[in-house]
Amino acid sequence: MKFEISSTKINYSSDISILAIDEKNNLLNANNLNTSDDKMIKSIIKKGDLSEADGSLLKINDGEGKNVYLLARIADVKNIDSSRLNLFFTKVAKGVSQYNPKSIQICLCFLSKVLGAEDVVMLFSRSVIHNCYKINSLKNDKSKLNLSKILIHVAKDYAAAAKKGLSIGEAVAHGANLTKDLGNLPPNVCTPTYLGDVAKKIAKENGMKVKVLGKSQIEKLKMGSFLSVAKGSREEPKFIILEHLKGKTSEKPTVLVGKGITFDAGGISLKPGANMDEMKYDMCGAATVLGVMKTIGTMKLPLNVVALIPACENLPDGIAVKPGDIVTSMSGQTIEILNTDAEGRLILCDALTYAERYKPTTVIDIATLTGACVIALGHEASAVFSNQESLARELIDAGEQSQDRAWHMPLWDEYQPLLDSNFADMANIGGRAAGSITAACFLSRFTKKYNWAHLDIAGTAWISGGKAKGGTGRPVNLLTKFLMNRLKK
Ligand code: BES
Ligand code: MN
Ligand code: ZN
Repeated sequence: MKFEISSTKINYSSDISILAIDEKNNLLNANNLNTSDDKMIKSIIKKGDLSEADGSLLKINDGEGKNVYLLARIADVKNIDSSRLNLFFTKVAKGVSQYNPKSIQICLCFLSKVLGAEDVVMLFSRSVIHNCYKINSLKNDKSKLNLSKILIHVAKDYAAAAKKGLSIGEAVAHGANLTKDLGNLPPNVCTPTYLGDVAKKIAKENGMKVKVLGKSQIEKLKMGSFLSVAKGSREEPKFIILEHLKGKTSEKPTVLVGKGITFDAGGISLKPGANMDEMKYDMCGAATVLGVMKTIGTMKLPLNVVALIPACENLPDGIAVKPGDIVTSMSGQTIEILNTDAEGRLILCDALTYAERYKPTTVIDIATLTGACVIALGHEASAVFSNQESLARELIDAGEQSQDRAWHMPLWDEYQPLLDSNFADMANIGGRAAGSITAACFLSRFTKKYNWAHLDIAGTAWISGGKAKGGTGRPVNLLTKFLMNRLKK
């Protein structure tokens, strides 16, 4: 899929030309229109076949089948904001994906005047790549995407800003598509070893440092909590360390920690059978971190960012960890495992302790951590927990700015006693009430030495069941925006 920015007059040689029509039936790129089709298009619009609702589409041709147009309604352009524009582009891109052309073109001059060419072209390119994503399935009969050429028209004065927007849009959408790919892969392919290989590939392509530790090295680090989860599986656990060090050498890094459970059967506290296949998505935190690393690598973002990924399977077995077992985490704190299905926190806590060695400014973990989070927030917002108010704010703002929203949840001390254990420093569960909060409380006991935030993405990382089933690539947009905002500080 190749994008091109053009400032010359439109000639309709693409398979589909997208024409935006405002609420008064004006063609918004009318200045560039230069064909005999101009009149025909206007008369068709007047006949009223294009619905008035924002984002409505109508495909027409010139009667000879030479030029094909996709008319797209967009009202009140003067007052448009990036969130509404994103919805518009989403509908346009879905239409494009449905008609599956080889080439398309669109004129974005009028929108660039309102929102700036950088943001407009970023949103458009991101939306096309995102919505034309096809699952890299293992079907013999694959549906193929034909789209290979996308022409974006802007005025000459906007060309430089448009190019910048395009490079950001492409980087972030390809990063998010990697996140989707990893989530969608079956768990017999996407193993801890596979995630390690992907990290190595990202490192090689972007000049990053990478280490993938195996079981014996993880044992040397005394990550007893992480290893207790891995015990029930024959797949070797991996601890992945990927370093993008493109900031000042004096600058302390931001650390991203991703939950990498490549399959969560629950362990001895076995999950019910229905939809258990979806627990292949339990590595979406890890996939998000890898997607963000790929994105900032492509963008050559001048920041220091370290990715840490504990990766393993959670399965029942004769030697698997049992309810009642007590394990010692890397921090030295002991944990009574009352439910082996609360495994995410058990692998994350050791990675969070490992993060201390970077003396980081900020640590953010990303995890499909609790079913309770889906009950609380559904599929719209990721949950944000933090031991620093301003960090939570930064993340929520970045989510708002990147159409990838998150919502602040409480982490009050009053919840902590729910994790009390008679036999160890803490239990790994806190009962049914406030399930995502007690999970975050558990993590907070390992993050006292730095500013930390936890994103629970159980409801946002993938779409369950049905035709649309699949990874969403969230929250790659949010985290990329967060890092870009930090750069401006
Ligand atoms: N990976 C699951 C959380 C999950 C469940 C994500 C459903 C998305 C959809 C996690 O490891 C888990 O099993 N959590 C338990 C915790 C409980 C035992 C305290 C849960 O949410 O039921
Ligand atoms: Mn679980
Ligand atoms: Zn899990």
